[in-house]
Amino acid sequence: MKKKLLIGMSFALTLIFSPFHQAFASDSSQVDTIAHRGASGYAPENTIAAFDKAVQMKADYIEIDVQRSKDGKLVVIHDTTVDRTTEGTGYVKDLTFDQLRSLDAGSWKGEQFVGEKIPTFDEILDRYRGKIGILIELKSPELYPGIEESVAKELKERYLHLPQDEKIIIQSFNFESMKKMDALLPYVPIGVLTSSSTDTTEQALKEFSAYADYFNPSYGIVTKDLVNQVHSQGMKISSWTVRSQEAADFLLSMDVDGIITDYPDYVNQRN
Ligand code: G3P
Ligand code: CA
Repeated sequence: MKKKLLIGMSFALTLIFSPFHQAFASDSSQVDTIAHRGASGYAPENTIAAFDKAVQMKADYIEIDVQRSKDGKLVVIHDTTVDRTTEGTGYVKDLTFDQLRSLDAGSWKGEQFVGEKIPTFDEILDRYRGKIGILIELKSPELYPGIEESVAKELKERYLHLPQDEKIIIQSFNFESMKKMDALLPYVPIGVLTSSSTDTTEQALKEFSAYADYFNPSYGIVTKDLVNQVHSQGMKISSWTVRSQEAADFLLSMDVDGIITDYPDYVNQRN
């Protein structure tokens, strides 16, 4: 078991009788509902509308994708270009923050969402900390040298890098980036993302467990045996991306720890 989980457990014991715990802690016997890019089945992904909807639907976490503008501002958007989810065009990394912020990130999903903007990382932290957990994905960090330090700085400025009931988690498909993140923020839980079964061998899981607290696979490679193996390496497992009731029911039957879904109600109504 990773040191941060042990620290987190002892910290949780000190909180267990506190009002903070009673207001905010999740029941570990239940699976965490993680709203993927917010409640993105109902509102435009990675916008305040989608994140507010996730809070309203009583998800345990929002999942956000973090990238960086040309002039160094951390922004929340999934694709490495703005083409699919805005009226603009071009790579996120080649556009200034003012250019990104001028785009409409909502109208592609429906006219009721006209005016939604690409959020900044800091506004998401400030708006949602203490209200809902935040699963932070570093999206394509290889495009953004030094983004790990920038994310760490924002968390440290808010004292969100300290043990705090595991309601901030950082994950990525880029394993080297997550090793770096673990070194920068030793108390913040780290997740590795994969859809490759080559990452599910005993040796691979053991190597991940040296720096990761979560092994987060696509649900196509989840088996009961994998869940047990991940747990035996001292990690938790949250799986993605659920867009049907059948997929939610499958993952619930696998006893995963978290379900990352566009539709939080598919999990909550069974939970
Ligand atoms: O949180 C898991 C999931 O978000 C990974 O895939 O492409 O939706 O970022 P993607
Ligand atoms: Ca993501």
